Amino acid sequence: MATDTTAAGTTPTEDAVRAALATVNDPEIHRPITDLGMVKSVGITADGAVTVGVYLTVSGCPMRETITSNVQEAVRGVTGVTAVQVELDVMSDEQRKELAASLRGGQAEREVPFAQPGSLTRVYCVASGKGGVGKSSVTVNLAAALAADGLKVGVVDADIYGHSVPRMLGTDGRPTQVENMIMPPSAHGVKVISIGMFTPGNAPVVWRGPMLHRALQQFLADVYWGDLDVLLLDLPPGTGDIAISVAQLVPNAEILVVTTPQQAAAEVAERAGSIAVQTHQKIVGVVENMAGLPCPHCDETVDVFGSGGGARVAEGLTRTTGAEVPLLGQIPIDVRLREGGDEGKPVVLSDPDSPAGTAIRSVASALGARQRGLSGLSLGITPRNKF
Ligand SMILES: Nc1ncnc2c1ncn2[C@@H]1O[C@H](COP(=O)(O)OP(=O)(O)OP(=O)(O)O)[C@@H](O)[C@H]1O
Ligand SMILES: [Mg+2]
Repeated sequence: MATDTTAAGTTPTEDAVRAALATVNDPEIHRPITDLGMVKSVGITADGAVTVGVYLTVSGCPMRETITSNVQEAVRGVTGVTAVQVELDVMSDEQRKELAASLRGGQAEREVPFAQPGSLTRVYCVASGKGGVGKSSVTVNLAAALAADGLKVGVVDADIYGHSVPRMLGTDGRPTQVENMIMPPSAHGVKVISIGMFTPGNAPVVWRGPMLHRALQQFLADVYWGDLDVLLLDLPPGTGDIAISVAQLVPNAEILVVTTPQQAAAEVAERAGSIAVQTHQKIVGVVENMAGLPCPHCDETVDVFGSGGGARVAEGLTRTTGAEVPLLGQIPIDVRLREGGDEGKPVVLSDPDSPAGTAIRSVASALGARQRGLSGLSLGITPRNKF
């Protein structure tokens, strides 16, 4: 057949080009791009110029150049190809979901219990725009305070790259596996799971969107949490893949925004919070952390990071979301809080009456006092008509 020869001037077939593309592996997932739904289109002109449309899993994918050159090299080897052009596009959320499903190897996805309509667990995502504002510190202290109040509490360290929750809660326990479920270790009465428990030493995790989604899905669905009153998710800073995955996996999760009093931090926090409008998530409130340093020698407070950021974010988010977003608390700078994090003893337990301990406990009471998630739950009763 003409297309099987190497004669110049033979127009390459689409099958031949796709067969060549099947030899290109995604550099990170190590599977052919054709299996991963990454080939968007193949166009061939009569004179043998080929255009390949390739979907990247995420925009700004660090592997874009490698993928482009590997595709060019593979297609250039096809008989009759005179030129190769690669056009990059980015997968939609739907396509990413399909990819994550195919990476699971066709195994049925276990449901996320917290996303079921009957779930009574309140899920809070602790989020911020900027890094280092104290999300993880707030998460572990709220969790410890809620557990101390007698609630059943779980924490998911959803900061896959920058996991810090196990250290802050002082657990070096490893999860155990029972049947197909992962049993989370607990510390201070809080069940906790983190990618740090699965990686040897301090090994870094280098994953892209679909893998992150998969890890989070497992944390939520394959971990045996039991009946929790509250589940806290410590998110990485910003509005990346994880925030989107959480919104998909637990749409009913509410967002707790952490900010510092600083104007710049407040602006970024507000932007991060307003993502909730797009994901249709509720913002439960704002916590202002590092809100002043009480002077150890006098009654004054030094506003190290300025003041008013928390209130500004709460007002801004109330405006953008159209729902009341309260400022739930202001946590002062407190050496004991930092030390507690380093030593794995949350300040709410080691020094509950310290200024930071008191402030966090009051946020915890506000969250803990909220009714368990009855919204959307059918109570199985029908109103009777009035006569
Ligand atoms: N109120 C506070 N007083 C004193 N130190 C604090 C306070 N809040 C947080 N810190 C310290 O600031 C550092 C950053 O806090 P933390 O790790 O909780 O922030 P984060 O928002 O989770 O950071 P990342 O974005 O990197 O995940 C830590 O060393 C923590 O102990
Ligand atoms: Mg953190």
